[in-house]
Order: sequence, then C-alpha cells, then structure tokens
Amino acid sequence: MLVKELRKKKFGLDKNELDLIILNEIAPGEDKSFLTAHEDIKLDDGQMKRIELNVDCRKNGEPLAYILGYKEFYGRKFLVDSRALIPRPETEALIDLVKELNPKSILEVGTGSGCIAVTLALELPDARIVGLDNSENALMLARDNAIEWRLLEEWDHPVHSSEWFGLMYSDLLGDLKIRTEVIVANLPYVDKKWDWLDKKALAYEPAEALYAKDEGLALIKKLIHQAARRKCTKYLVLEADPCQHEKIAEYAKTKGFDLVKTKDFGLVFKFNR
Ligand SMILES: C[S@@+](CC[C@H](N)C(=O)[O-])C[C@H]1O[C@@H](n2cnc3c(N)ncnc32)[C@H](O)[C@@H]1O
Repeated sequence: MLVKELRKKKFGLDKNELDLIILNEIAPGEDKSFLTAHEDIKLDDGQMKRIELNVDCRKNGEPLAYILGYKEFYGRKFLVDSRALIPRPETEALIDLVKELNPKSILEVGTGSGCIAVTLALELPDARIVGLDNSENALMLARDNAIEWRLLEEWDHPVHSSEWFGLMYSDLLGDLKIRTEVIVANLPYVDKKWDWLDKKALAYEPAEALYAKDEGLALIKKLIHQAARRKCTKYLVLEADPCQHEKIAEYAKTKGFDLVKTKDFGLVFKFNR
C-alpha cells in the first residue's frame, strides 16, 4: 500500500496521530513534511503490520508517546517508555522558573525520564545538575536520555556522573550531602480520589511516578521537610496541581519557606532564614 492510500484510511484515529505513527515507521526522526513529500513510498507487509498494530494499541488507549518511543519536552525529543512518566507540557513551567533563578547548582528530585535535569543542563550550561530517583528503571531511562543529549558517555555506569551532570539513586534527599542552591521536583502528586482522572490512560504509566498519599501531598511535604534542614538550599521549585498550591504554601511556611512565585503548575519557594 502507498503512504497516500494509508493516510486516507479510516482507522477511527486522529489524523495527526496516524501520520506520526506512519512517519515513525518509515522515517523516524524526520518531521511531518516528510510524509507529504514522500506520499508515493510503498509500504511492505512488515511495515503495514507494525503500523496496524500500533494503531490498535493507540485505539486501546496506550499513550501515543509510548507507541512512538519519544515525547517532546521544551523543544527537544526525549526517549520514553514504561520505565518512567511521560513528560507533560505543564512541567515546562519548572524549566522557566529555574532559569529565572540562574543557579550554579541544582538537585532534581524524582528525575524519571530525566527531562527536567537534561533540559536544565542544556539550558544552563554553567550549572552543576544532579538528578535523583528511587526507581532504578527510571534512572536507566534518564541515563539513555543524558547519553542522547551528550551529557554522559555510554560507559558512565552505574552511578552516572560527570563533572557537571549526574544521576543518582536516592529516596528523596535521603542523607545526601551534595550542596545545592536550588532543589526542583515534579514528584508524584496525583490523588487517586480525583474524579477527573483518566485512569485508563494513566494505567500505562508507573503508579509510583503518579500517585501519592495524603491527598497527593505526602511526598511533597516530606521533601519540604528535608529541604528545610539544608542550610545551603535557597530555593525550592515544585510542581503540583493548582488545587493543591494553597495547602503546599501553608505547609512550606511552617518550615521556613515563603512562596515567591507561581506559574501554571509551578511554585517557587525561598528559604526565609
Ligand atoms: C511525576 S514523576 C516526574 C518525572 C520527571 N521528572 C518529569 O517531570 O517528567 C515522579 C518521579 O519521582 C520518582 N519518585 C517517587 N518517589 C520517590 C522518592 N521517594 N524518592 C525519589 N524519587 C521518587 C518516581 O520514580 C518518578 O520518576
């Protein structure tokens, strides 16, 4: 079958998504103009079978990013798979907020795919950045992304670090001794009881990357508590659903952090010592 014939088929799928699935099969890495310019390419049986399988997966609710194997974040492509959360557009606000602070050292807690740590390393080349996670699987994916973006070498294993960029296993801040000006975190904050959740779609992503107890605030509160004991940390930049911001700000205040800015889902706290 020719690409142009396939593009016209009624799969019951969004046209843009179908194009991306076809493109990923015939020319991964190219942009969508490639399809229009190469509509007369003939697809072989193997390609057709894979495309049809991916269309079925998508129709069954699998996130497009997992099917394609990548997701764009802050204008760059990141490898994604079921080892970690798919980067969300709302998380891009954290990058803007940290960039405004222009720190020389950053710890990212809950790095997942590494999208925040890698993006900050590329946007703030003078800063030292360490990404932490308590999921070995997620850390391996973050490492793949750091290699893709040339922040690490293939042989940096298992504690993946260079002078300016590192990835480490840690349960939140644990007993980490690394000094840092800014802590940034997009920790799990979803409350399982929220009735607007698309639980079918979310079921593809690791539950430990999404949900937290105490109305979604358990991990965020624990991190604030830990950060308050670190003398060197000036700013805490967090992501949470806007419906949680007030409660987080109240709790942070009791630990010495003043809310100085919000942007979409992002919050910036300054230590008031
Ligand atoms: C919401 S995901 C964010 C991933 C990525 N930073 C992003 O913004 O797309 C939260 C991440 O926090 C990690 N995480 C959950 N509990 C943690 C803990 N106690 N210590 C460290 N990381 C944790 C999960 O493994 C997951 O990768």
